Amino acid sequence: MSSSNARAVIDLDVAGPKINKHLYGHFAEHLGRCIYGGFWVGEDSPIPNEGGIRRDVVDALRALNIPNLRWPGGCFADEYHWMNGVGPRDQRPTMVNTHWGNVEENNHFGTHEFMALCELLGADPYVNGNVGSGTVREMSEWVEYLTRDGDSPMVRLRKANGRDKPWRVPFWGIGNEAWGCGGNMRAQAYADEARRYATFCRDHGDNKLYRIAAGAADDDLEWTEALLKAVSCLNCGRDPRSTFQGISFHYYTSEAGIRHGSATDFTDEQYYRTLIKAADIDRVIAGHSALMDAYDPARKLGLICDEWGTWWEVEPGTNPGFLFQQNALRDALVASLHFDIFHNHAERLQMANIAQTVNVLQAMILTDDNGAMVLTPTYHVFEMNKGHQDAQRLPVHVISQPEAVSVDQDQVVPISMSASIKDGRALISASNLSVDSDTTLTVDLRGRAVGDHRARILTADSPQSHNTAEANAAVRPADFEVSIDNGVLTAELPRHSFATVDLDLQ
Ligand code: AHR
Repeated sequence: MSSSNARAVIDLDVAGPKINKHLYGHFAEHLGRCIYGGFWVGEDSPIPNEGGIRRDVVDALRALNIPNLRWPGGCFADEYHWMNGVGPRDQRPTMVNTHWGNVEENNHFGTHEFMALCELLGADPYVNGNVGSGTVREMSEWVEYLTRDGDSPMVRLRKANGRDKPWRVPFWGIGNEAWGCGGNMRAQAYADEARRYATFCRDHGDNKLYRIAAGAADDDLEWTEALLKAVSCLNCGRDPRSTFQGISFHYYTSEAGIRHGSATDFTDEQYYRTLIKAADIDRVIAGHSALMDAYDPARKLGLICDEWGTWWEVEPGTNPGFLFQQNALRDALVASLHFDIFHNHAERLQMANIAQTVNVLQAMILTDDNGAMVLTPTYHVFEMNKGHQDAQRLPVHVISQPEAVSVDQDQVVPISMSASIKDGRALISASNLSVDSDTTLTVDLRGRAVGDHRARILTADSPQSHNTAEANAAVRPADFEVSIDNGVLTAELPRHSFATVDLDLQ
């Protein structure tokens, strides 16, 4: 164990681009126990629920200010036929969820239930349509069903199913991972399909769809370029809007880039390899952004990372197709590092969705059928960072910091930071990724005088620390003492920790 020093400067008077609140978006797929047993317990459950949606889960998530929720997949989206999920529940046909565990899906959680969930959460719906095994008509009618007012075949069906007024649906996905589970298409073929499907996803009334083309895996720039060529005629023709408004990519963090390794049992080297992989999303975003700048210098198109997070071996004894994993302090630090990087790319990156919200991959919440609910370390990062949503980024200059940790050819830079300003307050986030070195961090706060401050810290005995139903507060935020003297903030940032400092500006 050792200690070290780091120094940074933050310009409180240089407000940069807005950090889109949608960078804090979520993802809920019909996969394992995310929907069934996670969000949805059914109206007859002894677990307290609102119309079948688990009340404690909603209450916990409301504290995160979830800006948008993506649904129904993922890979599931491309085999989902929405008409099977509306109407009386006991009459809905079943299907087999072939991607995720080959289990039977009873379609009890469908369009109306998803929209009710979004309303309870206060989140914008992001509906992902089916390109892989669906039809243009099916997708077009879903948009009509959800968003059209007045009178039309789909409006009549919606009303017959109990919903009079249209919903507002801002975000629409045109398929998912079209290069893989979404149809194994080649880039050019999908680019043409995306244009065709997007054409028939109409804007009904005031509902303006932000259509998101299914994008690349990691740094597949060829895929992104094919989509950029397909949308190159921006704002021309009869329709003043482009075919699609966003291009997505997916990026998962797992040790050494492979989906192996335990969520809670890992070595220091595996810990650092994880952070190396997490940090590499910076290069990936920069690559897609540079390409987009070339085709779309006015930045009309958004880059969307609509799946990100850690991917570990499933918990022993659980269905391998359910992707249920524990969540340790290491996962929380992956999240804090990702958010610093996302903030730094706020000019182009407009949305990101953690995979996934409950019981799947890097979840905020783990539940069990007995009614227990556990908040994960990752949950706390989302909560502590929520003040960055729709704030303006502030420049953070890390002038000096402890030596990087090397693993083979790669390095982990121990101190990661970002900051933003909103409504006369600044929020600073700082992570110490070192496994064995505490750091004294001093930050020159320039450009504005600082009044009161509040600081919190998330840390625990080790990066492996995690919460369980029996010990649900092993990793949780605590008040953190920092000093601010003459515009200089000093904090003793312990090893493997994440801290936030909220400043009132004068
Ligand atoms: O999030 C789990 C799966 O990962 C999604 O269904 C798919 O899009 C991705 O491969």
